[in-house]
Amino acid sequence: MNRYFSTCLVLVLVCVVILCVGSYIKAQEATAPDSVTVPGGSFGKVTFNHKLHAESAGCKECHHMGEVTQKCNSCHTAEAAKPSKDAFHANCIECHKAKEKGPTGCMDCHKKE
Ligand code: HEC
Ligand code: HEC
Ligand code: HEC
Ligand code: HEC
Repeated sequence: MNRYFSTCLVLVLVCVVILCVGSYIKAQEATAPDSVTVPGGSFGKVTFNHKLHAESAGCKECHHMGEVTQKCNSCHTAEAAKPSKDAFHANCIECHKAKEKGPTGCMDCHKKE
């Protein structure tokens, strides 16, 4: 009897955890923007279809640390071991080269207004 009760309790707890994680992921998906623009410095802004990318690659492919809402440049500062430019170029261009899809030329990504 005792054993039966604790098995039920564990099952209920497992369900609660699954529900929590599920709604947490949903909440993050809901906030994922369709399009993202990053400043890009002297070469000009970089805009990409965030939704398309989020569907074809996992969030962790790019948001590899912590929360998705955390700006890449909050860690990848000019002083970081991987400064912003290197981090973005490694992330974006390496995948485009590997997949032989997506822009690799400087001005295919950077747009001056
Ligand atoms: C190809 C890389 C890539 C993928 C895949 C990706 N993101 Fe992003 N996402 C970015 C970049 C880059 C930014 C802009 C970050 C910055 O400004 O520092 C961003 C911004 C965001 C933002 C913040 C928008 C804002 O206005 O500040 C959210 C929320 C987000 N992504 C959620 C997600 C979720 C959820 C997924 C997975 C379903 C995902 N992203 C997949 C690259 C990606
Ligand atoms: C919470 C801090 C943090 C955030 C936010 C963050 N990174 Fe990183 N990133 C790191 C650390 C730490 C490393 C590894 C150490 C280093 O080289 O600086 C790293 C390494 C990388 C690398 C190195 C790959 C390699 O081995 O050459 C890439 C690419 C990268 N980050 C891209 C991004 C992108 C794109 C975003 C935003 C979507 C992002 N990071 C957000 C902390 C962060
Ligand atoms: C995990 C692989 C991967 C990563 C990481 C990635 N891309 Fe892409 N990207 C692709 C693929 C694949 C396509 C082609 C999609 C298609 O045409 O169906 C693409 C297409 C694009 C395009 C053209 C379509 C559009 O979105 O407007 C742009 C611009 C682009 N990528 C920018 C970026 C930027 C900027 C980053 C880094 C923040 C990035 N990509 C990171 C795989 C990736
Ligand atoms: C796949 C898209 C893509 C391609 C191709 C690309 N870049 Fe970038 N580049 C970015 C992104 C995204 C950033 C980060 C923007 C940010 O942090 O605001 C960046 C950042 C930079 C920065 C740093 C801006 C700053 O002030 O911190 C420079 C300079 C730059 N790129 C030059 C180039 C040159 C030169 C080439 C060609 C050899 C090139 N980029 C190709 C996407 C791209």
